[in-house]
Amino acid sequence: MENRYPKKATVSVHKDFVIDEVDPRLFGGFVEHLGRCVYGGIYEPDHPNADDEGFRTDVLGLTKELKMPVMRYPGGNFVSGYNWEDGIGPRSDRPRRLDPAWKSIETNEVGINEFVSWCKKADTEPMIAVNLGTKGPDSARNMVEYCNHGSGTFYSDLRRQHGYDDPHAIKLWCLGNEMDGPWQMGHKTAAEYGRVACETAKLMKWVDPAIELVVCGSSFRGMRTFAEWEATVLQHAYDYVDYISIHSYYGNPNNNTLDFLAKSDEMDAFIKEVVAICDYVKAKKKSKQTMMLSFDEWNVWFHSREGDKEIKPWTQAPPLLQDQYTFEDALLVGSMMITLLNNADRVKIGCLAQLVNVIAPIMTEPGGKAWRQTTFFPFKYTSTNGRGTVLRQSVKCDSCRLDDGRSIPSICSSVVHDPKSGSVSVFAVNRDLSSPMSFELNLAGFGVFKPAEWVELAHPDLKAVNTADKPDEVTPRVKAGAKFDNGWLTAELSPASWNMIRLVEES
Ligand code: AHR
Repeated sequence: MENRYPKKATVSVHKDFVIDEVDPRLFGGFVEHLGRCVYGGIYEPDHPNADDEGFRTDVLGLTKELKMPVMRYPGGNFVSGYNWEDGIGPRSDRPRRLDPAWKSIETNEVGINEFVSWCKKADTEPMIAVNLGTKGPDSARNMVEYCNHGSGTFYSDLRRQHGYDDPHAIKLWCLGNEMDGPWQMGHKTAAEYGRVACETAKLMKWVDPAIELVVCGSSFRGMRTFAEWEATVLQHAYDYVDYISIHSYYGNPNNNTLDFLAKSDEMDAFIKEVVAICDYVKAKKKSKQTMMLSFDEWNVWFHSREGDKEIKPWTQAPPLLQDQYTFEDALLVGSMMITLLNNADRVKIGCLAQLVNVIAPIMTEPGGKAWRQTTFFPFKYTSTNGRGTVLRQSVKCDSCRLDDGRSIPSICSSVVHDPKSGSVSVFAVNRDLSSPMSFELNLAGFGVFKPAEWVELAHPDLKAVNTADKPDEVTPRVKAGAKFDNGWLTAELSPASWNMIRLVEES
């Protein structure tokens, strides 16, 4: 399509042409013992809003708004030096330790039992990473026994002694974290990691056959070892694991918004490459199992990188990775969620990294307020309305030209049909920064709809942020003007806007 004003996008879907059902775990989060995520984030016993276990109820309330079905814990880089046994039993006996990953002091006031308890209050399920950096199969299988075995053994009885009679029944486990990275404690080559992941997986599943396991893929697409890492690790572990992880963080350090907004297309390409590698190993092994992806760290991360170098090492809960998110960051987060939805056939788990204070949708002041960052909103509305079946799209649209000569489609969209309620939710980002977009969606195979809700996130300043004193500077607004006529939805999308339009069947 040639460029015109306003720009135009025509998207066609058919009720029966589906990508796949959305696994609700696509909308997960991540809590790491890092900075003020645990201490001063989910847990702050002296805070006026703390409950009887020391959890901040304001943070719990905001977490519940995000409807995150899984929460990854306790790391991240932290887990590669973590001894989970430091965090169980009476608090007074728990050791203070150095955490070399983030050069911080870890008090171990919060451990696995407290986290499981917090998860129940937050309406989420724990997804637990084991330490395959400085520890190995023995520590991992003991942790599964402690958490998931009923009683009558050393570790299960220890849990009961600690006040937890019923097993935690933790279903989802990660075999270490980013083991390809030289920054990781206990970093390994692909062959070393593949072997240890395989042996750890065997033991963990022997202790509890009901669990599911995520093996580490590359820590980002630009790793020199990317692709070869996945192929080698899967060569060893394919038959023992259920998912391979994929991580991506994007930033806009050169202040080039269009280039930044194009990153969700890079994320899409990365997913498709990992899928191709998984399918290569599947073919090589003549396996019947198709490997699924766990995108268990994704977000925007760059604002805090320089400032964090100034933070004093070896302090408790230092203010690390406290990115203050702008409106344009929210546009990319919304676009990344669209990418995840459009890959719902292979990406089954997603974890926004992280939940609170640390590159997070929720921010808190020590002893004070909690508020929603700009990125909170696309996450919340996609998580709430993006459940059902993702439809295949045929997209025809104008393009946006990047400074380096590349072009990207000016629309980034996903269409999700919820067969239970009969509703259809459309998620669309107009990536054109100056032109509105005339958006048309043809819904074939459906009955008659009416637009029930249109939520728009737009702001005249791409760099606008929310703060404790101005928590609503960037906030969604309800928009009118979407029309449904003769099988077509039409709406004019504002320049640089994220949109969710929900259609319900006309009764
Ligand atoms: O989420 C912050 C860090 O990013 C995690 O600890 C690590 O896994 C990744 O590199």
